[in-house]
Amino acid sequence: MKQRSEKIAVLTAYDFPTARLVDEAGIPVILVGDSLGMVVLGYENTLPVTMEEMLHHVRAVARVKPKALVIGDMPYRTYETPEQAVANAQRFVEAGADAVKLEGGEDVLPQVRAVIAAGIPVLGHVGLLPQSVQKLGGYKVQGKTTESAEQLLRDVTLLEQAGVFAVVVECVVASVTKKLTEAIAIPTIGIGAGPHCDGQVLVIHDMLGLSPRLPKHTKVYANITTAMREACAAYKQDVEQGRFPESRQSF
Ligand code: KIV
Repeated sequence: MKQRSEKIAVLTAYDFPTARLVDEAGIPVILVGDSLGMVVLGYENTLPVTMEEMLHHVRAVARVKPKALVIGDMPYRTYETPEQAVANAQRFVEAGADAVKLEGGEDVLPQVRAVIAAGIPVLGHVGLLPQSVQKLGGYKVQGKTTESAEQLLRDVTLLEQAGVFAVVVECVVASVTKKLTEAIAIPTIGIGAGPHCDGQVLVIHDMLGLSPRLPKHTKVYANITTAMREACAAYKQDVEQGRFPESRQSF
């Protein structure tokens, strides 16, 4: 798609009905992101997410048998060594993922190389790394200094050489992302990284207006929160006032 200059739309999904709708919309890549820890499981950040939680959701998405590529996001501290990375990546594949995503650049190259050598495609992830939020001192835009921009360029180049098929670029200054996109032949998939990426990824709960705290980089395409609130309130009133069930919902 990058070679044909076609932009790539990626969305997250964590359950069967959502993955089915995303796939039916023709989205070519579904990311079962560890963001599910925050938007589905109610954790403060992605650090507490476990392999078991991720696999549970990957299985639900894979049951759709989507046309889309399904990518499983490896959670915090599940790829600390090449051996651990391969063993856990294999569990993702057994659960139905086509590929896995690992956060990091130069620092995770041995793990990335080992997973690819085991025959499992890898999506890279550079820039703001939510699993390193404590080390980074918060959710901050990356690539603001020359040093940080140079490190990002080194990271994507080394990841490409290691064999990743694409790389997520999260919360990076747009002009720096442009240089990253031009420097590599594999697609960059941006989130909060401006328009110069080969594709974009959004967390589905954010773009459906279901997240209580919306990041600045999100665009809300539908407000499902309002629809759900109104539906729940209407149902409550109907039950309380004897309007539900009617004869057509009764046996
Ligand atoms: O976990 C996730 O959903 C992600 C995307 C935001 C890229 O990593």
